[in-house]
Amino acid sequence: MEENISPVLRALVVSYLIRSIEWSEGRVRWVNTLKLPWEEEIVETDDPERVAVAIERMEIRGAPAIGVAAALAVALAATKLEEDDVRRLQQKLVGVVERLRKTRPTAVNLFWALRRVEAVIRREYSSADELRKYVIAEALKIYEEDIEMNRKIGEVGSRLIDDGDTILTHCNAGALATVAFGTALGVIRAAWYSGKKIKVIATETRPMLQGARLTVWELMKEGIPVRLITDNMVGYVMSRGLVSKVIVGADRILIPGYVINKIGTYTIAVLANYHKVPFYVAAPTSTIDYESKVEDVVIEERNPDEVRTVLMRTYITVPTVDVMNPAFDITPPELVTAIITEKGIATKPYDSSLARFRNS
Ligand code: MRU
Repeated sequence: MEENISPVLRALVVSYLIRSIEWSEGRVRWVNTLKLPWEEEIVETDDPERVAVAIERMEIRGAPAIGVAAALAVALAATKLEEDDVRRLQQKLVGVVERLRKTRPTAVNLFWALRRVEAVIRREYSSADELRKYVIAEALKIYEEDIEMNRKIGEVGSRLIDDGDTILTHCNAGALATVAFGTALGVIRAAWYSGKKIKVIATETRPMLQGARLTVWELMKEGIPVRLITDNMVGYVMSRGLVSKVIVGADRILIPGYVINKIGTYTIAVLANYHKVPFYVAAPTSTIDYESKVEDVVIEERNPDEVRTVLMRTYITVPTVDVMNPAFDITPPELVTAIITEKGIATKPYDSSLARFRNS
């Protein structure tokens, strides 16, 4: 957070921080984002399978949040499985990791977090309890690191924000997509609480309406000025000079600088480029995929009824119509002005600027 923020404001921010996920004594609690903004439902479980289902159903969603939730689900399994034999406990925990890997295919943070936990599972242990202790410790480390990474992204990114900016954001890259604070919304929060008078334009983000339901809810809770538009208004607002910057999150960033994020991000990037509006991506380095090529990335195809209906409730079309429902798209590096991470800001060429963050 900015150094010039007053202690009173800092306290205010901290007290307002939304914790989307929490761990407490062998139980995981989360805000069910499917119910927002109508109901602030908290779900609690000691069952790793229930967490896997919550990720699949998008009760827990957003790249960093699903990585953390998956790690905590493995910690739940470690706590719950009554197994004294180290090898057998290791096998069962690897089984839980494999189940969690199948929950959603696109956000790389899920695989990053599970890889970390699996590496801990596979070490040598003298007892099952020692194994349990290290698995839980690793999951909690991933949890705490996420909060810290988001705070730093905010601090780094807020330097790019000017007093008076109107920032357009897409989907929800906020506290509800991370453990707390958010990536794109972390930058917006840090700028706002450092005293910059900014405004936000949130796109509704069809079909699951994460912008309308979650981003608006988060920002209004803190009194950060926000206006909602439908996805097809982005060109109009940019052509009228109403947007000074775009900041979005990411589900996966490839080393040449391809940004995989919520469907509609690419359209916004093309429009931003045409209208010479800076297009920033804010993400922790856990979102950088140093291995995959663009053709390897699986774009999640979700239930067609998400498109045929409003939030799986009212049909807005002929119920049998054929539809497409890709959940993410790919923005090429040339459209990305800069990538804001907790380790600093990367600019083109991204292969060298992102490589700097790999082992630093
Ligand atoms: O399908 P979702 O809601 O999980 O998609 C989320 C996004 O696309 C976010 O923009 C992304 O995960 C970044 S969150 C900090």
